[in-house]
Amino acid sequence: MKFDATSYLRKRLLELKPYQSARQEFVSNGESMIFLDANESPYETDLNRYPDPLQLELKALIAKWKGVRIEQLYLSNGSDEFISQVIMGCCEPDKEAIMIAPPTFGMYKVAAALLGVQVCEVPLTQTFELDVDALLDRADETVKILFIANPNNPTANAFKPEALARILDHFPGLIVIDEAYSEFHDAPSYISQLDKYPNLLVCQTFSKAQGLAGARLGIAYGHPDLISFFNRIKAPYNINTLTLSTAIQKIDKQEVVKNQVKLIIEERKRLEDAFSTIECIQKCYPSDANFLLIQVDDVALRYKQLIDKGIVVRNTSKYLHCENTLRITVGLPEENQALIKAFQSLNPIK
Ligand SMILES: Cc1ncc(COP(=O)(O)O)c(C=O)c1O
Repeated sequence: MKFDATSYLRKRLLELKPYQSARQEFVSNGESMIFLDANESPYETDLNRYPDPLQLELKALIAKWKGVRIEQLYLSNGSDEFISQVIMGCCEPDKEAIMIAPPTFGMYKVAAALLGVQVCEVPLTQTFELDVDALLDRADETVKILFIANPNNPTANAFKPEALARILDHFPGLIVIDEAYSEFHDAPSYISQLDKYPNLLVCQTFSKAQGLAGARLGIAYGHPDLISFFNRIKAPYNINTLTLSTAIQKIDKQEVVKNQVKLIIEERKRLEDAFSTIECIQKCYPSDANFLLIQVDDVALRYKQLIDKGIVVRNTSKYLHCENTLRITVGLPEENQALIKAFQSLNPIK
């Protein structure tokens, strides 16, 4: 059956004539040219020219690395930008909604609120699993996008493949699987399912395992008809030249990233083992990510005590089903050792 991307997209944006940047009108054939088309400074600074609006050099490398086609790729100023763009492009303000499964990454809800889009919340179960029946029951024609972080933040777990398969088979709208932490989870990416499910979008980020949170770069993958729409509605130069060149170099350094990921996973296990012996830690949830979610006896007290010892963690108690929890990123071995020592020095509550 032919895929009709337009059924997922806002009608009025389909009619929009996008901004045409100077660099899109002229495609170089490699010959040296005099550029007098974009009102740039002619004085060389390495950054005096606008970047390629479609980032073709970087996309070609990503396509080869990830085994996808360039037309399946959308690059964003961090995954955060893609999350906003997909909501903006697909949901009619005040009328349509996104669906999320709290507790989950906070930006889905914030981006929807900023864009005047409603949020349909279908909580995870107490054991942090997807409630697939409820998600499918609540999915009506106004719910345009379902966001699932896999592995999830702040709960740290990846969801069961059977649950995700049922959602992919039955959810009627777009499904965004956010794989920000996928490098820390030993399972195939959902990119491999793109051909089977044209309503699936996958996003990944350079901010976590790739070590480039400061560069702001996200990769989204999807059906070429959806991707070309997102490219049409984006800001023309959403990825800057410094980020492009940094990412191009990073792709060559995947052996280093792999070793760092391996070490972080070993350290995660070391922290889990140590936490099981610490009195004020009541529970450490299993993790498929580069952080651990723990439940403590008194979250405000323990958070403050760690701060006093110079260690900043995240108090995640306000998230649904996460009372008295702290989210702790796995750091360098010596940082993790300092954390263990800090916890060991805390007195039990009388
Ligand atoms: C699930 C998830 N998605 C996306 C992001 C943000 O990614 P980026 O830095 O690329 O905007 C985060 C950051 O914490 C996250 O936890």
